Amino acid sequence: MNLETLCNDVVTLAKETGFFFLDEVNKVKTTDIEEKGLHDFVSYVDKTAEARIVKELNRLLPEAGFVAEEGTSTRKGERYNWVVDPLDGTTNFLHHIPLFSVSIALMDGDEVILGVVHEPNLNECFYALKGGPAYLNGNIIKVSAQREMKNSLLATGFPYYEYGKLQGYMELFMYFARNTSGLRRLGSAAVDLAYTACGRFEGFYEYGLHAWDVAAGAFIVQQAGGTVTDFSGKNDYIFGGEMLASNNLLHHDLLDAVKSHFGKE
Ligand code: IPD
Ligand code: CA
Repeated sequence: MNLETLCNDVVTLAKETGFFFLDEVNKVKTTDIEEKGLHDFVSYVDKTAEARIVKELNRLLPEAGFVAEEGTSTRKGERYNWVVDPLDGTTNFLHHIPLFSVSIALMDGDEVILGVVHEPNLNECFYALKGGPAYLNGNIIKVSAQREMKNSLLATGFPYYEYGKLQGYMELFMYFARNTSGLRRLGSAAVDLAYTACGRFEGFYEYGLHAWDVAAGAFIVQQAGGTVTDFSGKNDYIFGGEMLASNNLLHHDLLDAVKSHFGKE
């Protein structure tokens, strides 16, 4: 397998999918929207995009299996698996907020070896390969060099289910509101991670995430020099649902804050 060629093909596929979203964003009707779980929406756009992505990835690497948000394929690969979120930021998309993305990662066993996050509204494609740097539209990107928490800008996702953890989340939010220069909620975890990778954010944290939201973005952060852990400082951040990503320099301080404010109740 030539990983570089494969990455170029996945970038092309993500960009084509992005054009499809831009074509459809003003066509989706209320009657096209289904609630597949609490506050978790989907339309034919997510499903059609995923079916096209799975078909093309199957062609590119027939031996690989899938972990895909809309369940187009649940076949497991013995060694390789694609982790696919066809449309990360579905709520933004359905509300015509121009920030959403395509997120595709390739795992070799437990390890991500390729990650692509494409944000079509600004035509920004973030990607990385095992052993290489991270890129934004062909230019190498690096995480922020900021060392001071008080000067940092963080991204998060506001909880919209798993309310048992809401109290701890709010305490952590209040701590960061007082001790950083600000917090943002963009509405696409994959974009939050991509923006952390290129230094726009110093860090990102959220709970209740799925592997397809984070696998590609977390890998891009790491290849750009950042650090990614779960809320215990361990490595279960792809399938474990809790994610803290940072520019590395601030990871210790951010993790201390997470440990002392989240999940206390
Ligand atoms: C969602 C987005 C959002 C995050 C949610 C995710 P979806 O993904 O990444 O930013 O807060 O937790 O589920 O549902 O739009 O693919
Ligand atoms: Ca998602």
